[in-house]
Amino acid sequence: IILVLDFGSQYNQLITRRIREFGVYSELHSHKISIEEIKAMKPKGIILSGGPHSVYDENSFRPDEEIFNLGIPVLGICYGMQLMALHYGGKVEKANNREYGKAIIDVKDNPVLFDGTPDNQAVWMSHGDKVVEAPESFHVDATSPSTPIAAMTNVEEKMYGVQFHPEVRHSEYGNHVLKQFVFEVCQCRDEWTIENFIDMEVENIKAKVGDRKVLCALSGGVDSSVVAALIHKAIGDQLTCIFVDHGLLRKNEADDVMKVFADDFQMNIIKVDAQDRFLSKLKGVDDPEKKRKIIGNEFIYVFDDEAAKLKDIDFLAQGTLYTDIIESGTETAQTIKSHHNVGGLPEDMQFELIEPLNTLFKDEVRELGTQLGLPDRIVWRQPFPGPGLAIRVLGEVTEEKLEIVRESDAILREEIAAAGLDRDIWQYFTVLPNIRSVGVMGDARTYDYTIGIRAVTSIDGMTSDWARIPWDVLEKVSTRIVNDVAHINRVVYDITSKPPATIEWE
Ligand code: XMP
Repeated sequence: IILVLDFGSQYNQLITRRIREFGVYSELHSHKISIEEIKAMKPKGIILSGGPHSVYDENSFRPDEEIFNLGIPVLGICYGMQLMALHYGGKVEKANNREYGKAIIDVKDNPVLFDGTPDNQAVWMSHGDKVVEAPESFHVDATSPSTPIAAMTNVEEKMYGVQFHPEVRHSEYGNHVLKQFVFEVCQCRDEWTIENFIDMEVENIKAKVGDRKVLCALSGGVDSSVVAALIHKAIGDQLTCIFVDHGLLRKNEADDVMKVFADDFQMNIIKVDAQDRFLSKLKGVDDPEKKRKIIGNEFIYVFDDEAAKLKDIDFLAQGTLYTDIIESGTETAQTIKSHHNVGGLPEDMQFELIEPLNTLFKDEVRELGTQLGLPDRIVWRQPFPGPGLAIRVLGEVTEEKLEIVRESDAILREEIAAAGLDRDIWQYFTVLPNIRSVGVMGDARTYDYTIGIRAVTSIDGMTSDWARIPWDVLEKVSTRIVNDVAHINRVVYDITSKPPATIEWE
């Protein structure tokens, strides 16, 4: 394992990603991790990430300096290199301006990290402070006009520093530098693959569960589906899934989930038809946050009721991903919307948790799903919010309005798939804003609802841009919706990015 310590750089997850792509397992941890925990992990190498602070800031992040005495190779990137320089007695200077963007470095004397690369190469810089004097025991490996010490090493101590960001694609030989560190310096082997992961986790789950039983809340989303499939592979019928149909799902979705898991995978799955419960609780409620809270709570009640009927369950399986853990660790953000996941289960439940995906990134989870035999339509399913269509019917939710969203959404999905755009667009759906307008159909006046189309591109849902769907595709969607969906006489396209808008309308 290569341990990456997080000092707050926006690129820190990328470092872990790149190393896993090389076939070497890597984890990102807070810089606050204790030296005992680090030792227990037995990492073959440690990478100190960049970060937004100046090493001279009062509250700057500092690792336990013992990490430099463990005899384990360390690669300091940007801020990480500055920490290393200070530790060994070099000089870091506070700068007023950031150096940001491409720079050309001049590599000296063929140092190990740059072995086999040209002397002059483009790198990506993003730093304020810089090392102006390398520690005496270090050799300067590379310079650039504005950064006299762009890379430095102390081979005996196995200490390596680069001021630039090798994990960013703009660094021409960045991958090479990381590979040299991982394979040449740390002597790792490229043995980590998703297939190994499956074998390893199946064994772990078997050992942990023994002959006891596991419960899983299945939503049909990628994460809970992959968790269910993985645990099922390990323990078969000792797993029971509960699938709550709250009546806020998309067209045919509930049937499809049942087909895949009950018919094809032959899993124990309990489908709870709770449409009436949810709709009656939502009656007369038009405030978005209230709607979200009601649905989240009701979900817990329904799940609780069903779980109480089952006997001897010891474990609860959850599809927590690596990013969920990393993000919730640093979250101090304001509540924009109270998100609800099927993971939001009661705190007083007497289960032990099993979270076999909590070291994986989303794309690794997709690969895992494919390897486990899940169909593409589940593995590549677009994100779908826990409160479902209820937050796409703006204002009060009624069965009639849900039907309008369900039908228009199905048309949009069909046409996006027919145009081959379904993997390019992060999310695409329709919303029913609570407005009516005048139209003309045949020779008659209509006064009916407007449907909004929302389609966005995004990396992680945190920010997004509106998708540039070709006009002829939009035209087809619009024509079909107006013709085939009752009570719609107008279609509009949402062209706002996030921020300032959010992806969902409520
Ligand atoms: P917003 O609307 O906040 O959405 O820009 C960002 C992403 O999160 C999804 N979303 C949710 N996902 N439970 C979820 O699991 C929720 O309550 C929820 N609300 C929004 C949204 O679809 C988008 O992908």
